[in-house]
Amino acid sequence: MLDQYAVFGNPIAHSKSPQIHTWFAQQTKQSLDYKAILVPEDDFEASAKSFFARGGLGANVTVPFKLDALVFADTLSPRARRAGAVNTLQLGKNKQIYGDNTDGVGLVRDLTNNLGFSLAGKKVLLVGAGGAARGVIEPLLNAGIAQLKIANRTPEKAQQLVKIFHGLQPETQLSSSNWAALEANQFDLIINATSSSLAGDLPPLPDHLFSKQSLAYDLMYSQQPTPFMLWAKQQGATQVADGLGMLVEQAAEAFFLWRQVRPATQAVLEKLRPKQVGS
Ligand code: ATR
Repeated sequence: MLDQYAVFGNPIAHSKSPQIHTWFAQQTKQSLDYKAILVPEDDFEASAKSFFARGGLGANVTVPFKLDALVFADTLSPRARRAGAVNTLQLGKNKQIYGDNTDGVGLVRDLTNNLGFSLAGKKVLLVGAGGAARGVIEPLLNAGIAQLKIANRTPEKAQQLVKIFHGLQPETQLSSSNWAALEANQFDLIINATSSSLAGDLPPLPDHLFSKQSLAYDLMYSQQPTPFMLWAKQQGATQVADGLGMLVEQAAEAFFLWRQVRPATQAVLEKLRPKQVGS
């Protein structure tokens, strides 16, 4: 039997992970099988147990199970514990399940390697304070940014995140904000980590937030630019990106954890990008 891997989620039919990992496996000449598994909302533990009991070696975990996976894992990486979420599970020696979180490192790799955006010394605004936001804070701080401001519709949640990550990188100025208090600030990088794009909505950010050389990044991706990306373009952001590169990079990090081989991501990303009209 081939080595078994899977992604757990609900919904899962449109997940790109099976395709991405199959391409990684072909490229690195690894023999493995990677499936998408639709898990009923209240059934994560039973589904994951059964997968690993049947010989599964590793799994990715996506919405809405990243918290369930945190609870399910026997041991956690420090970054998964701080992120409060697990997106990668691995069967370890003596059948212990190890939980990791590769989302944040995936974002930082996409920013630096694929988009050519150097994070050192930059002023960063993180919009949102839910699970997605929390997952990317530690690697951003570790990348040597000068400032991280977290703004959220419910400001208490942003304050809570500041408390959790306070002191991890004392050189980075870490603070929280509500929408109005952002006025007159400028940022080199604005990351949309809210789920507002899902509803075709946009956080009510003030105008003029982008610095001269700036990047707008939406953790979401879709065939069409998200409302946040359209807003950022209209506000004069120099570069605008969606989260497809992060998806590929977090997958590569999980693949590396499981197989100790690092796949090349550029070619996979190019294959996934919808062709632009006229190109
Ligand atoms: P996820 O795992 O995707 O982060 P989540 O933990 O439910 O999901 O968090 C969703 C985030 O998007 C939160 O920061 C939420 O703001 P609140 O904390 O105030 O709920 C934010 N969000 C969702 N819809 C939004 C909208 N229409 N405008 C602004 N923020 C929104």
